[in-house]
Amino acid sequence: MIIVTGATGQLGGAVVAHLLEHVPARELAVSVRDPRSDAARRLADRGVQVRRGDFTEPATLPTAFADASRVLIVSGPADPEPHRVAVEAAVTAGAGHIVYTAHMATSPDSHFGPARQHAATEQDLATTGIATTSLRNGFHASSAPFMLGAGLRTGELRLPADGPVAWTAQADLAVAAAIALTDPDRLHGTTPPLTASRALDMDELAEIVSRVTGRTLTRTVIDEDEYRAELVAGGLPEAFTPMMTGFFAAARDGEFATVDPMLADLLGREPRSIEDVLADALRAH
Ligand SMILES: NC(=O)c1ccc[n+]([C@@H]2O[C@H](COP(=O)([O-])OP(=O)(O)OC[C@H]3O[C@@H](n4cnc5c(N)ncnc54)[C@H](OP(=O)(O)O)[C@@H]3O)[C@@H](O)[C@H]2O)c1
Repeated sequence: MIIVTGATGQLGGAVVAHLLEHVPARELAVSVRDPRSDAARRLADRGVQVRRGDFTEPATLPTAFADASRVLIVSGPADPEPHRVAVEAAVTAGAGHIVYTAHMATSPDSHFGPARQHAATEQDLATTGIATTSLRNGFHASSAPFMLGAGLRTGELRLPADGPVAWTAQADLAVAAAIALTDPDRLHGTTPPLTASRALDMDELAEIVSRVTGRTLTRTVIDEDEYRAELVAGGLPEAFTPMMTGFFAAARDGEFATVDPMLADLLGREPRSIEDVLADALRAH
């Protein structure tokens, strides 16, 4: 049985939708924190077994992962420990293959905090003794409006110096994750890089936004202290600022610049461009 965690979220939900096109619902189960949530109920209505599982409550996982042959662990909390618990539970449940959603730039030396956390989980995966695939997903394109920040509203992008980012559509990454669960030999290596075909910097994103909205967006480079102060003044909790400044440091260092053809090969077409994703997102506002 294939078990998918994070199925109430955007990525995990899209993975289950793709799986249902190729696998009978009775061969799928989802592990969710709240089986009574609307998203979980919709899955149950489609015949998918819904089980309660929370990585921070290890006692829930033996039942959540029972009869697992393959488990997709969608990264959730910003901490490797709950993911280590989930990896261990999948092995104990008898799974033969764990697929994990990591991130491009995964490395203990990354400037970007989540990439360092994924590196710790990749180490845990490496010691399981079973087949593992850590999907090195490109930066979610849906995060681009958030990283553009208040500039989307004010017309002035006030951000630190940056570098190119391979913004990648979650819908495309979901297809790749479904393939990793059903036809794993189509992905190469244990840490497959899955990215869009281009990496763009903030100047290029500003041009795209200007084109899509018909409103000129200007770009001002500010230093990290100023950026941090403006984020906090705009309501972002202080605790999140290292992730934001880390994003720009990593981008400047080229950590998000790599593009790879594997995702296009899996999809059988070009991955969605950031232009498309941004146009949809901005139209929805
Ligand atoms: N690559 C990027 O640029 C990027 C950007 C954003 C996020 N991410 C990462 O990618 C993941 C998937 O993205 P997404 O957009 O699908 O996020 P999302 O919509 O927020 O979904 C996250 C999922 O993780 C589940 N979860 C959270 N804590 C958990 C726990 N303790 N135990 C078990 N499940 C837990 C959530 O369950 P509930 O529904 O119960 O909350 C939800 O189903 C995120 O969680 C994050 O780690 C990456």
